[in-house]
Amino acid sequence: MSKLNNKVALITGGNSGIGFATAQAFIEEGARVIITGRNQTALDEAIAKLGAKAVGILADASNLAHSTALAEKVKAQFGSIDVLFINAGIAKFAPVEHSSEAFLDEMMDINFKGAFFTVQNLLPLLNQGASVLFNTTISLSVGMPNSAVYAASKAALLSFARVLATELSPKGIRVNSISPGPISTPIYGKLGFPQEALDAFGKSISSKTLLGRFGTAEEIAKTAVFLASADASFITGTEIVVDGGILVNPTDR
Ligand SMILES: NC(=O)c1ccc[n+]([C@@H]2O[C@H](COP(=O)([O-])OP(=O)(O)OC[C@H]3O[C@@H](n4cnc5c(N)ncnc54)[C@H](OP(=O)(O)O)[C@@H]3O)[C@@H](O)[C@H]2O)c1
Repeated sequence: MSKLNNKVALITGGNSGIGFATAQAFIEEGARVIITGRNQTALDEAIAKLGAKAVGILADASNLAHSTALAEKVKAQFGSIDVLFINAGIAKFAPVEHSSEAFLDEMMDINFKGAFFTVQNLLPLLNQGASVLFNTTISLSVGMPNSAVYAASKAALLSFARVLATELSPKGIRVNSISPGPISTPIYGKLGFPQEALDAFGKSISSKTLLGRFGTAEEIAKTAVFLASADASFITGTEIVVDGGILVNPTDR
């Protein structure tokens, strides 16, 4: 039986990686899906693959005017939404001593501030019983070198999600976060590291997971389907860690 039949879901950053895989999974479960992105060509390519049940709306998460316009367009086209997946995000890594104001602003603007105001603008469109999901990260729970700004941006998101769960509970709206471990997506290619360094990083991280590998975007998408659906009807205000078992034993094996 389809878990999201007749639901309307909005996924930010849906043209790539986890967002794209989740759009595919939501559609397979019967939903109509709106994806956002900051690049029209990437959005068009994603929509061509997702098919007729998907719509793309250009909206840079860091631009508050875009998130206001996004809400207006969604209202005009769909009226309301049942699932909101705040997924758009970037990851950049640098030691604290080399982290500039611009570096911090870019990551906080997209990962936290943009997420906050996207939610705020879309709040009036959330149906009774809707499900809101945030894509956070296990980095917020550990002290991985060079991740101070990224981890803090996602920790802010997790705190926001918890508070939102309390504020939206009177409407029966559930709010949860998914904290992925290492997931194989295009995000690693956007770090600006040479391939050799990426390969070494990948090998080291894989060896730290109990399952000895990166996860897939589809594995996060399945968690998103679960949390978005009635299967998770008594789950709100929490974080589901999907990390192949890094956090349980972070020491080298
Ligand atoms: N992959 C992992 O190991 C991992 C682990 C933990 C958490 N996460 C989180 O998972 C989320 C998805 O990442 P991913 O791994 O699937 O990477 P990805 O393939 O790079 O996907 C990120 C998506 O967000 C979009 N995006 C970035 N900045 C945006 C902005 N300002 N406005 C609108 N869209 C924007 C990207 O668009 P472009 O294609 O234009 O860049 C892309 O569609 C992120 O929030 C990330 O922090 C990932």
